[in-house]
Amino acid sequence: MEALNPILTGYAVAALSLYALWFYFLSRRLTGPKVLPIVGSLPFLIANRNRVHDWIADNLRATGGTYQTSTMVIPFVAKTQGFYTVTCHPKNVEHILKTRFDNYPKGPMWRAAFHDLLGQGIFNSDGDTWLMQRKTAALEFTTRTLRQAMARWVNGTIKNRLWFILDRAVKDSKPVDLQDLFLRLTFDNICGLTFGKDPETLSPDLPENPFSVAFDTATEATLKRLLYTGFLWRIQKATGIGSEDKLKKSLEIVETYMNDAIDARKNSPSDDLLSRFLKKRDVNGNVLPTDVLQRIALNFVLAGRDTSSVALSWFFWLVMNNPEVEKKIIVELSTVLKETRGNDQGKWTEEALEFDEADRLVYLKAALAETLRLYPSVPQVKITI
Ligand code: HEM
Repeated sequence: MEALNPILTGYAVAALSLYALWFYFLSRRLTGPKVLPIVGSLPFLIANRNRVHDWIADNLRATGGTYQTSTMVIPFVAKTQGFYTVTCHPKNVEHILKTRFDNYPKGPMWRAAFHDLLGQGIFNSDGDTWLMQRKTAALEFTTRTLRQAMARWVNGTIKNRLWFILDRAVKDSKPVDLQDLFLRLTFDNICGLTFGKDPETLSPDLPENPFSVAFDTATEATLKRLLYTGFLWRIQKATGIGSEDKLKKSLEIVETYMNDAIDARKNSPSDDLLSRFLKKRDVNGNVLPTDVLQRIALNFVLAGRDTSSVALSWFFWLVMNNPEVEKKIIVELSTVLKETRGNDQGKWTEEALEFDEADRLVYLKAALAETLRLYPSVPQVKITI
């Protein structure tokens, strides 16, 4: 066997010693889960990939609410790739989301990962691009017409389709998958509200909708990018393998569907969000291009769909398991309906609740708030420091 070159061996030993020293000092600053040389906490993240939220909660519990970790312990790369602080401390959350909000943008890593799905939509932009959409959305959401449009979509779907499905299940003594029904309900509602087209996924025969499936696939494939470093998903994207291939194909379906919806709204505007954004002009007085409108709409679909359906699923699960809470909700509802609609119970379910009736359901609102506290629909938000 040939003898090792003593100079190269010397360099290698020096480099390894330097790395060991650097790793020693860095890992002492990382207060979270155990970190290994080079790969940091990545192996433990992968091992816990099916219980990521529980794993993060365990780490937070063990560290008193805030910890630092890294998924890439490589000199010069660690600071920009994979080094992060996790916190659930209320004071920190207030500081990040309110007091010094401007200091915590989504940042280039997050924006790059979400760009193919969300473009420069409200969820995936910072600075002026975010502010323009935030102002428009905030303004539109306070308008009476949008509230009425929302009520019309929600009430119509519940009255004409959800009730029918639940009624049939009772008559046939067949179980239903409530979680699936709520997902269909909120998807139909948010599509109606956003671009005025109800895909009717909540229909008696519970059809599979290509747009809904493609949207889910694209969201899942995008979220996978966040689990690993940018460098890994970019290689997958360039070679078109795994979830990146699925993302590309599903985005084609989503874009075609959105283009049809945009064309329809251009030809006959309505009271949906897209019609409102169609009227907007940019700083140069130009209408917003189709690809921007596409992404604006998709951001709203993402924002309003799973959040609401997950909250509803947990809410009914909690109510089913707490009969005393169910009883109080029913008593409160009956009291309000008796006052607003009289003693004839037939009238109570003829029409959905009016806004001022819903406003008086203080206990129900508290139960919903408690559901969101116990099982938050968005348990985790990522920002860049
Ligand atoms: C139970 C239901 C909901 C929950 C728990 C929820 C939760 C959240 C959370 C935590 C954020 C902040 C995300 C971040 O900082 O990255 C957010 C943002 C947002 N949500 Fe919701 N949401 C719900 C329903 C909805 C609905 C129905 C809509 C639209 C119709 C909507 C529209 C938005 C928009 C546009 C943003 C972005 C705001 C911004 O970045 O300025 N949400 N939501």
